[in-house]
Amino acid sequence: MSKLFSSIDFKRVTLKNRIVMSPMCMYSSLDKNGMITPFHLSHYISRAVGQVGLVMVEATAVQPEGRISEQDLGIWDEEHVPGLKQLNKEIHSYGAKSGIQLAHAGRKAELNTPIYAPSALPFNETSSKPVEMSAEDIKTTIEAFRNGARRAKEADFDIIEIHAAHGYLVNQFLSPLTNKRADEYGGSRENRYHFLSKIIEAVKMEWDGPLFVRISANEYHEQGNTEEDFIFFASRMKEQGVDLIDCSSGAVVPAHVKTYPGYQVKYSEVIRTKSAIATGAVGLITSGIQAEEILQNERADLVFIGRSLLRNPYWAKAAADELGYDLEAPKQYERGWN
Ligand code: FNR
Repeated sequence: MSKLFSSIDFKRVTLKNRIVMSPMCMYSSLDKNGMITPFHLSHYISRAVGQVGLVMVEATAVQPEGRISEQDLGIWDEEHVPGLKQLNKEIHSYGAKSGIQLAHAGRKAELNTPIYAPSALPFNETSSKPVEMSAEDIKTTIEAFRNGARRAKEADFDIIEIHAAHGYLVNQFLSPLTNKRADEYGGSRENRYHFLSKIIEAVKMEWDGPLFVRISANEYHEQGNTEEDFIFFASRMKEQGVDLIDCSSGAVVPAHVKTYPGYQVKYSEVIRTKSAIATGAVGLITSGIQAEEILQNERADLVFIGRSLLRNPYWAKAAADELGYDLEAPKQYERGWN
């Protein structure tokens, strides 16, 4: 019996299998407006046709100044809701569930306007120097995550994921490498967790569905967060009612990362074991057998597939064939599926 193709429940949401389309920015909104375009519809709907269990929509900005680029998707305005709702209607019609990754780029925003971060430290020599966020800025951004969650609900998403990885704003607060604040948002790991904690509280005021958080569980730097710190953060998230931690790594500060098949699975395994919370594994998971191994050995509860799904929207079908699993076809494809 394949675990990859077994269902799993998060609160009242049932995913038909454990395959998640990993969030991937497409930088395809036009006119700097953060809106869904025909490209986004084709791109996400084709993966739902391809039978992934969960389509996680790319990093979507909760504030315009939190975009990585001017072409990012947005959810900072009511005007964004109808396009996202249309997308969800289509994704749902193929039996997939949909999630949205709520994001703020912080100092990694590449915009010609002021950019914000916990401390006024640029990412590297070529990036702009961010403005250190005031207490008021922090409050406004937490409120923006809350409003993003409300709009995600209006748009019929099944799952929300908070982007706290890859050196973007929430990650900048979590990491001692990027957070040098002297107030209650900086210093000890409890204080560095404070911003994410407030965002989770704010999101939960609007959202009682499944909540995921993506983290960078290794900062590839001696003075960065340690395994102990990540276990502490994960345990706090569990106490706050987070349903799953999506375990990525890196991009907090410039660093060389050695990659190889399943290079981040170990972070998922450690957090799952030590914090007793569901986890997602991601990063160079490319075959059905590899995904099945991760799940059967209880190293993760979901597998997030990125580039392999860009190359092949029917990756789930290829994985099923590899595992000898008879994957149900979308009804339009029934005559050509096997
Ligand atoms: C990404 N990734 C990513 N991660 C994330 O949390 N939010 C995002 O919006 C993006 N955007 C993005 C765009 C593109 C084009 C790529 C290739 C990647 C990272 C992605 O979700 C995944 O974690 C990595 O690609 C590693 O998984 P794979 O590709 O090895 O399966």
